[in-house]
Amino acid sequence: MPEQQSDANRRSNSAIVSSYDERVMPVWKSLDVPVKRASGCTLEDFDGNEYLDIFSGISVTNVGHRNEAVVDAAKEQLDEFVHGCSYLHPNEPVADLAERVAEVTPGDLQKSFFCNSGTEAVEGAIKLARKYTGSKEVVALEMGFHGRTLGSLALTGNKSYKQGVAPTLNDVAHTAPPYGYRCPRCDGTHCDPSCADELERIIGSHTSGDVAAVVVEPVMGEAGIIVPPDGWLNRVQEIAHDHGALLILDEVQTGYGRTGEFFASSHFDVEPDILTQAKGIANGLPLGAFTASAEIADAFESGDHLSTFGGNPVACAAALATIDELRGGIVDNAREQGEWLGSELEALEDEYDVVGQARGLGLMWGVELVEPGTTGPHSDAPRPDSDLAAAVSDHLREESNVVMGVGGYYKNVMRIQPPLTISRSQLERATSELRTALDQLT
Ligand SMILES: Cc1ncc(COP(=O)(O)O)c(C=O)c1O
Repeated sequence: MPEQQSDANRRSNSAIVSSYDERVMPVWKSLDVPVKRASGCTLEDFDGNEYLDIFSGISVTNVGHRNEAVVDAAKEQLDEFVHGCSYLHPNEPVADLAERVAEVTPGDLQKSFFCNSGTEAVEGAIKLARKYTGSKEVVALEMGFHGRTLGSLALTGNKSYKQGVAPTLNDVAHTAPPYGYRCPRCDGTHCDPSCADELERIIGSHTSGDVAAVVVEPVMGEAGIIVPPDGWLNRVQEIAHDHGALLILDEVQTGYGRTGEFFASSHFDVEPDILTQAKGIANGLPLGAFTASAEIADAFESGDHLSTFGGNPVACAAALATIDELRGGIVDNAREQGEWLGSELEALEDEYDVVGQARGLGLMWGVELVEPGTTGPHSDAPRPDSDLAAAVSDHLREESNVVMGVGGYYKNVMRIQPPLTISRSQLERATSELRTALDQLT
């Protein structure tokens, strides 16, 4: 009986939240929207409320929550077998997925390792770069995010993630991000490719020259949706290669259609040496991957790397269905809806004194909020307004039943990263509610 009672208690928002308070480690301030069911772009909580989801569980459910084809593929695999340790017993979903990933990734990336998350993909990619080059050091971007295990955390260029847990991996240096809005090197409105030359200076002054890899997000997600100017990424690759280092593109957040291309690197015409993936790859089932050319991948020898759950066949079956769904028109939808969304969000810069900059690609957009009277390029010192961003997010959720993310290095960027299946009318609702929130709060 007590067990039944506690089950009944669980079926309300407050019961779930209080279970979290008592029994789940307090690593994150969760939204008070416990999810009971989800479908497409809609979340339903335990109190019967429905929300329009503009954040996809931090940019994960790219082909829509509970996508039927993905769910069916996972169920079918569940009926066959759930685990065989894919690196002990080869299995069909891994074999097929490796082939499909080679088809959709840029350049001649041919061989993949499958793991369980983004941070593991980054860790593995660094190991592979070290194995291949024989070098040890790594350069990443200030403000970048690559995960929370100790290696990927070292690459993460933001002290707020490291406080209380440093030191992390040694031999990591950081160079300037292409954050045009706040760049001290250019005119503050557009970083141009020459801003990438800072990498040359960092390698010269902050490393011993023994650099294995430069790791970059092609569009920086957690930093606040920062899009580099054309030519910037190509210059980074050139400098990396001049120093014998590989370019690792971390597409954990930008991959699988998010920016209106299968991978964001295509926007910049860059073919990385190693590509990391996770988040959208299996639409919510835990899966990560890193993919490299055969020449680089074959630097790994038997025993160099492994994961017990890596390449789980259920997750891989879901990933195969996800890729088919994306190819069946969903990436095109991201591109089309993203164009409309971009012009709507850019218009906010003129409409609101507090909107410093709207920027993005496809269905990955950020709206940077600043204190009134401080908008404009860096010479005007736009002051980030993280309180306003938090208030807008709360207002959207509580008054309009819209879930929108908040992020950015200064925690002042509204993040619009919905499922890529989103319709025009759903986006219209989201942008109209965002305007209402800004009207009421400013
Ligand atoms: C670019 C990037 N890399 C790595 C990670 C880490 O992924 P995970 O949380 O799956 O470990 C993230 C997560 O937000 C990310 O955005």
